[in-house]
Amino acid sequence: MGDVKALILEGVRKYHQEREGVPEFVPGVTEIWPSGAVLDEEDRLALVESALDLRIAAGTRSRKFESEFARKLKRRKAHLTNSGSSANLLALSALTSPVLEDRRLRPGDEVVTVAAGFPTTVNPILQNGLVPVFVDVDLRTYNTTADRLARAIGPKTRAIVIAHALGNPFEASEIAQLAEDHGLFLIEDNCDAVGSTYDGRLTGSFGDLSTVSFYPAHHLTMGEGGCVLTSNLALARIVESLRDWGRDCWCEPGESNKCLKRFGFQMGELPDGYDHKYIFSHLGYNLKATDLQAALGLSQLSRLDEFVAARRENWRRLREGLDGVPWLLLPEPTPRSEPSWFGFALTVDPQAPFSRAELTEFLEARRIGTRRLFAGNLTRQPAYVDQPYRVSGELTNSDIITRQTLWVGVYPALTHEMLDYVIASIRQFVESPRR
Ligand SMILES: Cc1ncc(COP(=O)(O)O)c(C=O)c1O
Repeated sequence: MGDVKALILEGVRKYHQEREGVPEFVPGVTEIWPSGAVLDEEDRLALVESALDLRIAAGTRSRKFESEFARKLKRRKAHLTNSGSSANLLALSALTSPVLEDRRLRPGDEVVTVAAGFPTTVNPILQNGLVPVFVDVDLRTYNTTADRLARAIGPKTRAIVIAHALGNPFEASEIAQLAEDHGLFLIEDNCDAVGSTYDGRLTGSFGDLSTVSFYPAHHLTMGEGGCVLTSNLALARIVESLRDWGRDCWCEPGESNKCLKRFGFQMGELPDGYDHKYIFSHLGYNLKATDLQAALGLSQLSRLDEFVAARRENWRRLREGLDGVPWLLLPEPTPRSEPSWFGFALTVDPQAPFSRAELTEFLEARRIGTRRLFAGNLTRQPAYVDQPYRVSGELTNSDIITRQTLWVGVYPALTHEMLDYVIASIRQFVESPRR
């Protein structure tokens, strides 16, 4: 049997080697994606091996990934889930758990967040009956500041939930301190920033909880997937319960009586001794990922440092190549940070003799993929028109981002040739005499 498996895996290696050559880069023809999965032979093998073992649900590989990823990100616990959006839903919902007693968030409580970002950083606030309080961000870093957050805190504020924008850390030490001073929970949406540091410390390790996405655009991929990380064991237990149907029991599938009193609980109004496997202490979901995803995650994880280094190098090349270009506001890392970049943001000066639409069209025609800074100012999006929210201060920069900002890619599969073509194309468009 072992021989057959070895033969199949050998065949997979050959198959991979035959399929994967590095295609020649043809400027204007080859697609320069803004992001994408970077998959190698080991990734393909990991997936096939997991399939051969018929590891189709969450099991040993998921648990192994969780412990290795938690160690890598310097958190005590990681819980794998089916997406970054689910991770955000779990992290925020955990703060509403009755287990937290007086500290739990209740409907109508406020959660401070930023207006310009990804929708599913914010949606769990609304989905839990809480009220988002939107603050503005800075141009160039695309992050908010501790000062803005401090001004947004009111008597009903109970938590801060913000993302590290396009991989660039927010002022994590200051914001964590602010949260502590005001008795607020802090959730870091670290979906776009795995490997970034602030004050030499990894993002995702400042908040009570942090989240990661493994969608192909992100630093590591499982196809679909996400993770919630925390060093607070009580919160970890709540996240696990919410992810796994809301159950109180923490046995793995196929496992029983880890607590040594499976029939010894009395909870709620259930009869004494009701099987702990079927006691539900939260209004949960099933947001688990599978071992196939975890197998891919494990092989991707072994390349994280290499991916982070490539993202930094690609960003630096674009930044240097575009330095001094007129009419475009170039991105800046937050002081005291070392970002693991997700993308390279460009904001077209509102006074520029060209529009963002014209620049976008020019780049896309050259097969240079562009993206928006996600939703832009969320309060302008149709889904939020009738939602309850509060705005603190003005959202001037969020509006500028909505109208003027785009980003191009820095992901590891982009070659120097491609990046130089991106630089030359932007320069050609911006610097060409017009009108
Ligand atoms: C900051 C941020 N948070 C959350 C998500 C959601 O992740 P997922 O697509 O895995 O649900 C994304 C997706 O790109 C994101 O950029």
